[in-house]
Amino acid sequence: MKGLILAGGLGKRLRPLTHTGPKQLIPIANKPVLHYIVEDIAEAGIVDIGVVVGYTAERINSIKESLGDGSKWGVRITYIEQDAPRGLAHAVWISKGFIGNDDFVVYLGDNILKEGIVRFVEEFEKGRADVSLLISKHQHPEKFGIVEINGDEVIGVEEKPVNPKSDYVITGVYIFQNSVFGYIDGLKPSGRGELELTHVVQKVIESKKHSVVCHKVSGWWDDAGTADDVLRANHVILSDTARNIMGRIETGAVVTGNVELGKNSTIKSGAVVRGPVIIGENCVIGEGAYIGPYTSIGDNTIIENGEIDSCIIMGDSKINLGGKKMVDSLMGRRVTVSCRHSIPKGYKFIVGEDSEISV
Ligand code: G1P
Repeated sequence: MKGLILAGGLGKRLRPLTHTGPKQLIPIANKPVLHYIVEDIAEAGIVDIGVVVGYTAERINSIKESLGDGSKWGVRITYIEQDAPRGLAHAVWISKGFIGNDDFVVYLGDNILKEGIVRFVEEFEKGRADVSLLISKHQHPEKFGIVEINGDEVIGVEEKPVNPKSDYVITGVYIFQNSVFGYIDGLKPSGRGELELTHVVQKVIESKKHSVVCHKVSGWWDDAGTADDVLRANHVILSDTARNIMGRIETGAVVTGNVELGKNSTIKSGAVVRGPVIIGENCVIGEGAYIGPYTSIGDNTIIENGEIDSCIIMGDSKINLGGKKMVDSLMGRRVTVSCRHSIPKGYKFIVGEDSEISV
């Protein structure tokens, strides 16, 4: 079996962060989403992985730099370039040469699953259906591809229906036998101008020639498409953080719970850090800083003072909140937050397009 990660998507709902980098590289607990996916596929015993990337040289290169040739995970990565966002089924279609005659698992590059895909792949191997969908219940099925089921059998699928007939959704992980390529051929673009994988699956069901089954996610799953989704995923992943102090905690600092502190990082005397928290390498948590639970701080970041709770600070940043509190925030790289001591007092913002600020 081969693996196919679809990492083209533009990530419009994560702007402005996705103006400068692909959403698939946004770090959750200081690790890019794509790395979790490669780990899940490798754990299932799959060594040949195709990654569909696209649209600009910057996006393509940043993904290539982050994953390399896959040897870090003991896998072989092949990059497949998509010229424009033409849909998931199009991304699968252009990967035909890479897939050859194998079965393959498709994993969307913004999905994150706590329990991986080992059981999903094992169950597929036992039953050998033509298509197998990983599904989960969701409170807002209308935002996804929905699945109508009868036991393990899938009897219908529909992409983002206004009135969903089921609250089971397609998570973004699928296993296909090679026969699926016959159903992509001749597919028409959807209302959003894309070739939808959901439409391919519906064609397979209607053909009555090939079987479509489902496997329910037993743990937690998230599609990290919006800032809230990313912060929620950070919560879930950080819940499993173990205490691991590779840096220095000065006498007089208070560090409780599961905190990971990277190499060459210091928590200064007077600072308070309450886990679960992960702090990368070369960071300084200053004496006036309080870092609350479910916060991830990337490498090379200085937190001078203020309270930070349930946030992701991606790294290379300098934050001085002037003693104030920041919650549920997502900050890109190379951010400076400074406190104004001069008159007139007030917020001063220099922010790019598509930014969102709540004060
Ligand atoms: C895609 C699929 C949808 C699936 C979802 C899972 O939607 O089209 O069927 O439920 O991924 O993340 P998109 O993220 O492209 O809107």
